[in-house]
Amino acid sequence: MQRILHSINALNEAKQVIPGGVNSPVRAFGSVGGTPRFIKEGRGAYIVDEDNNCYIDFVQSYGPLILGHSDSLVVQAVQDSVAKGLSYGAPTELETNLAKEIISVCEGVEKIRFVNSGTEATMSAIRLARAFSGKDDIIKFEGCYHGHSDSLLVKSGSGLATFGETSSKGVIQDIAKHTLVARYNDLDSVKECIRLSGNVGCIIIEPIAGNMGLVPSKKDFLQGLRELCDKENIVLIIDEVMSGFRVSLQGSYAFYGVKGDLSTYGKVIGGGMPLAAFGGRADIMDMLSPIGGVYQAGTLSGNPVAVSAGLATLALIKQDVGLYERLESLANRLAEGLMSAAKTYNIPLQTCVRGSMMGFFFTQEEVIDWNSAAKSDTEFYAKFHAKMLEKGVNFAPSQFETSFMCKPFNETIIDEVIEKARASFKELKA
Ligand SMILES: Cc1ncc(COP(=O)(O)O)c(C=O)c1O
Repeated sequence: MQRILHSINALNEAKQVIPGGVNSPVRAFGSVGGTPRFIKEGRGAYIVDEDNNCYIDFVQSYGPLILGHSDSLVVQAVQDSVAKGLSYGAPTELETNLAKEIISVCEGVEKIRFVNSGTEATMSAIRLARAFSGKDDIIKFEGCYHGHSDSLLVKSGSGLATFGETSSKGVIQDIAKHTLVARYNDLDSVKECIRLSGNVGCIIIEPIAGNMGLVPSKKDFLQGLRELCDKENIVLIIDEVMSGFRVSLQGSYAFYGVKGDLSTYGKVIGGGMPLAAFGGRADIMDMLSPIGGVYQAGTLSGNPVAVSAGLATLALIKQDVGLYERLESLANRLAEGLMSAAKTYNIPLQTCVRGSMMGFFFTQEEVIDWNSAAKSDTEFYAKFHAKMLEKGVNFAPSQFETSFMCKPFNETIIDEVIEKARASFKELKA
């Protein structure tokens, strides 16, 4: 048995002063049970908890760490930046440099502004989209997550395409009623929302959804959405907070050839530091304060330390020709290995790979949207998660998250994980 006494005590202590003992709910292991591990360090493919247990880490901070934990050059860039100052509240050339880096590879991004979290990026992009379109209602998709701003904490009501209902206490219905919820990969449901509202100014989508497990949009769906937005004068926000610089250097564009009017970024662009951004067409972005009338600001926005981490991360990604192909091939190796192990024990499993993202669902049916994802056997996932953790493999503590490959992974590590999964399936089916 693994010793986790330190984590158990740390959680109890944290609970006295932090609600649930965590600063973001999924970390509490609510949907899988068991004790969240308190982590003391991360190195490459691995994290180490306070009891000195070591885990192969597929969470990678929920996506940012494409280079793995504590990449020495990123750490060096952060240290160099820290030595000069932590924050100035004034512009730096670093910000212009990072803006240029992103604009040079991200299709459709002509101007960009930095913020501190993906939540801020999507919230600000929506405000801007509403101002540009002059229309109040927005559409989001069931199962997509865009952070926790009020307009986006909605779920579908009854029926296929609906006005949203709040999915969190404290979000007032007066706000939720302006968000309509459509079904992912279903263009008809989007058309129905547009008809129902008559006042839709913005659609926001994860082009490769990673927050209901990994569920990529179908090509004709995303392209159809683009055409629909053009026809209806709707601002399309492509939320690449997770997929940006994760699935390819150009994010989802490399898979779909679809540009947003606005796009949002986070995670990888900060290399593990709190940094996110929204950008897009110059005519829309120039509506932002101080040029235009859409207010948006931040004390620590474009923080030099975070931007330095981002610059180093993007430079290292660019230098490593073949990185995305290598990570995708490792993700495929893992998916195939899990499939084969599951087959041996008659366990229904669906897998999916996009670039360095890998998802798996314990279900018989192909997963194309939230309805099909929700049919997964979450109890089995919880048991599998616990077994793997015991064996030193850290998958996310929810069936509806994605696994992330990182640069330090190799075939030996992936094969070790597959063998551990095989052993876990065997134990669970005994
Ligand atoms: C697609 C997407 N958008 C937005 C967010 C919110 O980002 P943050 O957690 O940095 O606020 C997330 C977070 O997981 C995300 O995956």
